[in-house]
Order: sequence, then structure tokens, then C-alpha cells
Amino acid sequence: MVSRVIPVDPFDLVIFGGTGDLAQKKILPGLYRRFADGQMPAEARIIGAARSDLTSDSYRAMVRDAVSEAIPEGRRNGDTLTAFLGRIEYVTIDATGTAGWTELAAMVRPDVVRAFYFSVAPSLFGDLAKRLNDHRIASRHCRIVVEKPFGRDLASARDLNATLARHFSEEQIYRIDHYLGKETVQNLMAVRFANVLFEPLWNAQYVDHVQITVAETVGVGGRGAYYDKSGAMRDMVQNHLMQLLCLIAMEPPSRFDPDAVRDEKLKVIRALDPVEPKDIVRGQYLANDTLSGYRDEAESPDSRTESFIALKCGISNWRWAGTPFYLRTGKRLKARASEIAVVFKDAPHAIFGQSAGTHRNILSIRLQPNEGITLGVTIKEPGPGGMRLLDVPLDMSFADALGPEASEVPDAYERLIMDVIRGNQTLFMRGDEVEAAWAWTDPLIEGWTERGDAPAPYEIGSTGPEEAAILMHRAGRKWREIRP
Ligand code: BG6
Repeated sequence: MVSRVIPVDPFDLVIFGGTGDLAQKKILPGLYRRFADGQMPAEARIIGAARSDLTSDSYRAMVRDAVSEAIPEGRRNGDTLTAFLGRIEYVTIDATGTAGWTELAAMVRPDVVRAFYFSVAPSLFGDLAKRLNDHRIASRHCRIVVEKPFGRDLASARDLNATLARHFSEEQIYRIDHYLGKETVQNLMAVRFANVLFEPLWNAQYVDHVQITVAETVGVGGRGAYYDKSGAMRDMVQNHLMQLLCLIAMEPPSRFDPDAVRDEKLKVIRALDPVEPKDIVRGQYLANDTLSGYRDEAESPDSRTESFIALKCGISNWRWAGTPFYLRTGKRLKARASEIAVVFKDAPHAIFGQSAGTHRNILSIRLQPNEGITLGVTIKEPGPGGMRLLDVPLDMSFADALGPEASEVPDAYERLIMDVIRGNQTLFMRGDEVEAAWAWTDPLIEGWTERGDAPAPYEIGSTGPEEAAILMHRAGRKWREIRP
């Protein structure tokens, strides 16, 4: 595979929360990789900003450790890392006070792209936005990047949008959903809109149902306090899974540009039907001999927050009326495996008779691990013995098809941060999209809260509660296997 890295323009990227978990685990290692690849120009600069009283040198030492921890030794180079650290500075800053702002104002350069990454609690977004403006650090063309959670319901998301809108225009606000930066997610758009093969079949006439699974083996661990107030619905479905659903279900945009794509996604969210209580299954993992259960890690020992959710939803438009979309995500499941499966209908007439069995085409878009796309097709089983049918995959595993370099799929954050610098919002959520997503999820959450529904327990290492399987069986369907 030939590397086609195009360097971005020189920039100053200020990371608020520069000493935090996300900065250390994702943002800074991602930036190192872009630097090592030659995409980050020599004039680019990264400024870590946080409350801790550090010098630039001690911050650089922290970044060195973070990059070394995140990137295996064989894939990093000592000299490159030292050169990368040379691009980094630090400023101690008080997001709600005055300390550090004059210093930051003196650090940013007038003639380069300016981006501010708000990797902090959403309660600080307003303070940061205001101070950036008061101190004239925010220029008219600067960009801000905000992390999820973007609110916890429609009302708080609206407040947040209004707060940011007081200081920045929509074109300056980059709301990250890192699932949109995943390589296969972008490939999903290429497969849909760069081939003639799929689009004619991409509708309720030919698609029986769609399954979107994001299964994780990790538990909530040290994030119990945050997670217990969110649950799988707010943490994963409202953003990541809904974004995947939008990309599968949307109409072809007229151009691959930010508003054309986001307009189409918004229409999908607005066409989602309310979900009936019988079509939602929530679960909580139990402890086993070695690992603690959800309630041991949650804030409250009798928590009713879900660590698993499965639901069936419908889209009321001409393309999809009658085709259910099944979403499923959970922690401490059997394997880390994320997949979108488009399950096509049976052939209209079975000419090979009953004994040939039933066979279906399934397009599987595998997000992680082993990124790739597979189309299941039915062929004749080789050899004598009559017309026996067999399902085989037409496989486009990226590692096999594109060579060994493809196994080094860039992390979602790398792509997204470079898009911020390039000023391309296509893979970022617009304010109205986020609000529409909350408008759909709010009544579901309110519904089970009012009813006092308790999540069903499930074993660690399982596929979730039995009730999730029943949700599928009721319609004569079954979940795809969760396999690594
Ligand atoms: C985050 C959620 O947005 O996504 C986490 O808050 C989850 O709970 C994570 O573990 C999953 O991301 P990925 O890229 O590992 O699938």
C-alpha cells in the first residue's frame, strides 16, 4: 500500500485537559503517529493546558511516557519521538479563574490554524469558551473540539449548544464521535456510494433486517461514577450506535461534504419510530470468581443502570418501512467484536427444493478487531452428490486484501484531529443531529425509569441476558455470533 500522506497546514493545537486520560491514551499518541508519518508539519505545535503545576519539560516527560505506553516499541522511533516532543509546550491554566490565560494568549501564533480541544468535563465548556474569547485567544477561524458526552438529555444538550453558540459559530464546533473516525465506518460509505452493486438492494424490499453489535469485554472499572449516571443507552447507543445506524440507513448524499452528509443523517434520526418497551432489553453483568459485577463497580450497590442494551427499532420512510434495525451493545461480553450485518431476504423462490436448506446473503461490516467487509454468498458444494448448497464468504478483510500495512489501521482520533486542522466537519456531529438523537432516546430512558424496570442479570463472558435472544426469536431471527 502506498502512503499518501498529505501534510496539513501549520497549526497550534491547545489541549485543555492535556494531562487527562484521553489526552494520554488517544490524543497525544495519535498526534505522534501523524507526526511520524509526516502529516504534521514541522511548524505545528501542541500546547498542553491543565490545572497541574508543571513545566513544559515535565509535561514532555509525561507525554514521552504516554506515547511509549500506547505505541509498541517496534512501531516508534526514539529520534522521531524526541523531535515530536520538541513540538510540545505546556501552560498551567485555571478553566474557571484567571491563571494562565495571559500566558496562553502570548503563546498562540496569529498566522496558523488554531484549534482548541476541550478534553474536560462538559461543565467547563462554557468557562473555556468564554475565556478564550475574553482573552482574544479565539480567532474568527479557530476551531474547538468537544468530546462526548454531549449532554445527558435533550435539555442539557440544548443548553450546551446554546452556551457554545454564544462564542463560536457552528462551523467552528467539532463534536467528536470517535466511531465516525474508524476506518471501516468510513469504508461503509465507500462501499455504499462508490459501487452500483448494493444500492439497488439497499431497502425494505430486499433487506430483512440489520443488526448492529458493539460488544466489549471490558467492564466499567474505574469509570463507575460516570457510567452509573449514563448506562449503555447514553454512553453508546445515543451516539456511536446511532451514528452507525445513520450511515447504513441514510439516502445517498449529493456530495461528500459536511452538510450534505449530515442533512441525510439527521433525516434518519428524525424518521426513527419510538421503541416499544417489549422491544428493549437491558442487562447488568454479575460478578464471577475473579471479576467484580456491575453493581460492585457502580456508584450505588442497588443501581438499575444498564451495562447491556438490545433493542429493535424501525425507520418510518419509504426505503425502510418494515425492515427492523436491531442494536446491541454491552460490557463484559464474550468477546470484543463490533459488526454491522445487513441480512438480505430469502430468494423469492427456492428452485433447489427443501433439502437445499435456506440460505441468505449477509453483508458483514466488521469494525473491530480484524476490520473488513464480507459478503456471504451461496454456491454449490463442490463434488458429486447432487445440488447441495453452501454459504461462503466473499471476503475483503483489509489485512488480506491490502497487505500488511493495512493491519496498522490508524486510530480514529488520528483521522479526526487531522480533519479538524483541515477544517473538514463531515465526520463530526452537527448540533441539530445531537439534539435529534437525544429527542429519540429521552422517552425510552424516561419510560423505563418511570416503570421502574430492573435490568436483567447476565454472566460475564456471555452474549448478554437471555431476554435479548428472545427479542430476536420472537420474530424468527437470531443474533449474529459474537466472535473475536
Ligand atoms: C466510549 C465509551 O465512547 O467508547 C466507552 O464511553 C467505550 O464506554 C468506548 O468503552 C468504546 O470505544 P472503542 O473504540 O474501544 O470501541
